[in-house]
Amino acid sequence: MTSVGIDAIEIHTGKLKLDLAETFAPEMGDDPEKYTKGLGLHASSFPDAYEDIVTMGANAAHRLLERKGLEPADVGRIDVATESAFDNSKPVSTYIAGCLEQVYDGDFHHANKGERKFACIAGTQSLDDAVNWILAGRNRGRGALVIATDTALYARDSSGEATQGAGAVAMWITEDPDIVELSTEQGYGSADETDFLKPNQQFPSVDGKRSMQVYLARMRESLQDFERATGASHPDDYAFIPFHTPFPGMVRKAAVLGYRHMIRGTDIEEELAADIGRQPRRERFDSDDAFEDAISEYVDGLTDTDAYREWYDAAIQPTLSISSQVGNWYTGSVHLARFSALKHAAENGIDLAGKRLLVASYGSGAQAEIHSETVQDGFTEAVAASTIDEQIEQRYDISFAEYEQVHDRHNHEKSVELEPFTQPDAEFVFDGWGPMNERKYTYVE
Ligand code: COA
Repeated sequence: MTSVGIDAIEIHTGKLKLDLAETFAPEMGDDPEKYTKGLGLHASSFPDAYEDIVTMGANAAHRLLERKGLEPADVGRIDVATESAFDNSKPVSTYIAGCLEQVYDGDFHHANKGERKFACIAGTQSLDDAVNWILAGRNRGRGALVIATDTALYARDSSGEATQGAGAVAMWITEDPDIVELSTEQGYGSADETDFLKPNQQFPSVDGKRSMQVYLARMRESLQDFERATGASHPDDYAFIPFHTPFPGMVRKAAVLGYRHMIRGTDIEEELAADIGRQPRRERFDSDDAFEDAISEYVDGLTDTDAYREWYDAAIQPTLSISSQVGNWYTGSVHLARFSALKHAAENGIDLAGKRLLVASYGSGAQAEIHSETVQDGFTEAVAASTIDEQIEQRYDISFAEYEQVHDRHNHEKSVELEPFTQPDAEFVFDGWGPMNERKYTYVE
């Protein structure tokens, strides 16, 4: 069968940085370690006055096309995933194509464009659509541009304000890809839930604690469904497990449950039995509550074992490094997690070619999806071209008063002028409104 997957990845972070421990925590009256240790977050990225989901997506896509030496005629699809759209009809992909056409001679008139919505899982769904389009043989030799772009802002003084972020991930999907090939096996866990939603409003209605429970429940269902397609998973099967990462602390909770599931009935459970016993089996308990208590106790013990710690440090921790510096990027978050892991491997000389990743996506509302990916020979070179470290380093560090202005500037209900904190350089910028209330963009040299 044709090998299809991700051939190139480019990331654009919002150009402002809110330091959570130094700047945000003191104003909230919180202990800084709630952020750095509890949530696992050091900073959030925010868009400068001239940035939004279109500029961030277009800038990531432009860098990707330039690096790969691609022209508009090479692109057969542009799919954008976002939960921050400002238009209920015209898709963000048309705005991004319009931006790119300012800097290329050709146009994207023959590219199919769309916008995917299902909270944070829409980025993975767009990736899936692109892969299926190629596998179906409908691409006529062209590739697909998949862009996950979000400004993950929450209402001021809401619990989610701790986990904001802004940025875009652009991915180029082709045959014989350089980075990863996607498996055709997938598992789903999907249910009608009201954990996080935006009923025609910019800032989410969110039940934070419940959203964490729903994340774990749907993730478990999708792993069970994935195993129906592939057979039982074992921790040794996967070099890294990138999860959707609203904040690293969420992944900490999901990882131990995933590990417990995967080691059940294996050599690892057997070896750990002397220290922490065997996993509780439901049939040995009189009630669900008693069973759940026993599971919690087992999981606490498991988390402290050397076997678990070594696995977590190798397979999970490297997926969290970018997220801990930029916050939640909604649709882009799981793709940042994959990229962080590949970057870690490239920088540490870990030979990943031929090894597998288990990619675990989630979107509130709610759905989880799990599939595996096989790392390709070209991954080191592809990842080394990224400028993400410099971008993170060069962000302007905003004060709390500046944060309040930035939040207002990006609040669709307000009309706030704000002098930019950074200088645009060879990039697309938002520069005002057109006669039909459309947003307008220019490329600044
Ligand atoms: N030192 C170390 N850890 C600390 C701490 C300190 N001083 N203070 C708090 N913590 C820990 C808490 O124990 C908690 O960890 P735990 O869940 O393992 O117990 C964590 O830090 C967060 O603290 P908490 O008081 O629960 O934070 P919160 O009430 O602000 O809520 C969210 C956290 C995630 C629910 C909230 O930020 C939110 O609503 N986010 C948006 C929704 C979201 O991202 N959902 C995820 C699924 S998609």
